[in-house]
Amino acid sequence: MKPNVLLVGKMMPHIMEALDAAYNVHRLYEAGDREAFLGEVGGSVRGIATPGQADRAIMDACPNAEIISSFGVGYDGVDAEYAKSRGIIVCNTPGVLNDEVANTAVALLLATTRRIVAYDRYLRDGRWVNEGNPPLTRGLSGKTVGILGLGRIGTAIAQKLAAFHCTIVYHARNQRQDQPYRYFADLVEMAGACDAIIVITPGGAGTHNIVNRAVLDALGPDGTLINVARGSVVDEEALVSALAEGRLGAAGLDVFANEPHVPEALMTMDHVVLLPHQGSATVETRRAMGDLVVDNLAAHFAGKPPLTPV
Ligand code: NAP
Ligand code: 8YV
Repeated sequence: MKPNVLLVGKMMPHIMEALDAAYNVHRLYEAGDREAFLGEVGGSVRGIATPGQADRAIMDACPNAEIISSFGVGYDGVDAEYAKSRGIIVCNTPGVLNDEVANTAVALLLATTRRIVAYDRYLRDGRWVNEGNPPLTRGLSGKTVGILGLGRIGTAIAQKLAAFHCTIVYHARNQRQDQPYRYFADLVEMAGACDAIIVITPGGAGTHNIVNRAVLDALGPDGTLINVARGSVVDEEALVSALAEGRLGAAGLDVFANEPHVPEALMTMDHVVLLPHQGSATVETRRAMGDLVVDNLAAHFAGKPPLTPV
């Protein structure tokens, strides 16, 4: 008998095909009345596959769930503490996206500091012909870049930026003995020493708005903030006013507090580059992430430990 698996949201075709082949899949996102649907199938569910969300209500409705396999390394949308208290294993998809998310961070840093997007618009608007060359930009070589969260992806970013001849410093709760970069125990102090900061911590309560006005002011009018972590890590209101008032130089943002909604004020700012949460969004990386969602469930139902429990 195939185990019953609850599919919380629509996922990539190759994931859904693999799940359909191995399990009786119950599609929550197709249910008109979620509560009634969960009441009907919840008791039979042994596994939960999700694009990133699993709250208490879902777990309560599936009292026999053994495992939640979540798409994405960040699992701030899964109540992992509650799952733990119920003995449910939570798996995410770490590692396979390090390189591509790091590439996105570097791309945003270059696009923002060298004004790639703004100057593309400048050219297309005919301003090169009519007004001549745009103002010079600031280079990256020799600049100090602070990594907020020197984990798997933060380390990949630091390694890539070495090729751009940047000095890397970092802030996290713990100093890493295995990394050569200067550690700052205080985030505001690090911001004062940096030309740019790249935010790459997890989201959730522990990091909520840790990039606040004091951090942005310490980074200053020539500083650049890149956020590829979660919108919740940066105080978005403080960020918008710092950019509007010229207290912060520029920002490159892949993530926002209320996705897919982006503060209107950012839309018209020329010193800001915006991406619709594209950090890991390549065909290759998303396939590898999807494979991990499937392989974690497969290992568990084969009686083996899952590959990447949180
Ligand atoms: P990771 O290996 O767990 O690294 C997280 C880092 O954040 C660690 O260095 C950790 O160090 C630090 N950290 C945690 N809480 C902190 C706090 N309160 N203050 C300061 N530093 C803190 O995670 P990862 O695999 O690199 O992924 C990081 C995050 O990136 C994910 O959780 C996700 O939210 C985000 N992400 C975004 C995209 C995207 O598409 N934009 C893609 C992938 C991932 P300490 O424990 O020492 O504090
Ligand atoms: C995904 C991410 O885009 O892994 C993460 O934490 O933010 C991204 O890789 C996201 O999980 C898609 O839902």
